[in-house]
Amino acid sequence: MLAMTRSKIKKIGILTSGGDAPGMNAAIRAVVRTALFYRKQIAGIHRGYDGLIHDEIKPMTSRSVSNIIHRGGTILKTARCLEFKTPRGMQKAYRNLTKHGIDGLIVVGGDGTFKGAEEFSHRFGVPVMGVPGTIDNDLYGTDYTIGFDTATNTTIEAIDKIRDTAASHNRLFFIEVMGRDSGCIALWSGIAGGSEAILLPERKTNVNDLIARLKEGAKNKKSSSIVIIAEGEKSGGALKIAEKVKSKLKLYDTKVTILGHLQRGGSPSCFDRVLASRLGSQAVESLLQGESRKMVGLLDNKIKLTDLRMATSNQFELDNNLIRLAGILAQ
Ligand code: F6P
Repeated sequence: MLAMTRSKIKKIGILTSGGDAPGMNAAIRAVVRTALFYRKQIAGIHRGYDGLIHDEIKPMTSRSVSNIIHRGGTILKTARCLEFKTPRGMQKAYRNLTKHGIDGLIVVGGDGTFKGAEEFSHRFGVPVMGVPGTIDNDLYGTDYTIGFDTATNTTIEAIDKIRDTAASHNRLFFIEVMGRDSGCIALWSGIAGGSEAILLPERKTNVNDLIARLKEGAKNKKSSSIVIIAEGEKSGGALKIAEKVKSKLKLYDTKVTILGHLQRGGSPSCFDRVLASRLGSQAVESLLQGESRKMVGLLDNKIKLTDLRMATSNQFELDNNLIRLAGILAQ
């Protein structure tokens, strides 16, 4: 405790960047309160790197983060900022950091957020720590990112509702879920939602195999079928695949639902709140212990640090056992 209080870092800045994720507020709360616990000042940077460039920086207190642990979105707001990728943008951001006396930075976000933080820290020598906040669960160095659990709970709630109507009408539904280039949301919600097939960016789609499987299901008296498609799937997404299947399979009336941004909203699950609290707090402690350019992650339920460079350049691998399980259970 004493060593961390004595750390030469006096004022920490916190920002959220990229797509918002449920649990970001719980992470902000953990960062603010842990910093204050160690007698450090804490400043909230609004609208991510864009707000850093445009000097949208305000001091925070313990009360600034009251009553937010249960709220989706991010009270600090977020943005996708192209200017921060330029040397001029980074220079402006650095000027504002020093103007406010911020000598340590914590960023909550995904891949793009971490790439920016890594380069910024490298150029200007500012210590930074990353907290993984994205519904996509696509970062190397953590089993779970903040927001993934809530997002997949939202998707299965939607899938369950669609199943009711699909079964009543004997219909085939293609449901597209988010995840950018990752199939993690699709895989988990496909298994939990009892889908007949899951189409992933990480695997090549074979439409003929899919049709054969759907025909087999109909032969086995399945009253409806649900196919989950990750938005990053390479052969064209839910609409195109549905068209291809429709032209060759007449057994079912076919419908498409794209779940979209509703997956990003909502009150964070218990898991995401606890994950965000653990990772946010550890990010502050690691920063005060002299760590920098690292992401705080959870591996086998233990908090582990991974170099930001590794977290963004290495591929998060989907669990092959889960893919196999999905196939076995879909009969
Ligand atoms: O990274 C989170 C995410 O929701 C992805 O799943 C999706 O591809 C992307 O963000 C959508 O971004 P935007 O809200 O900027 O359209």
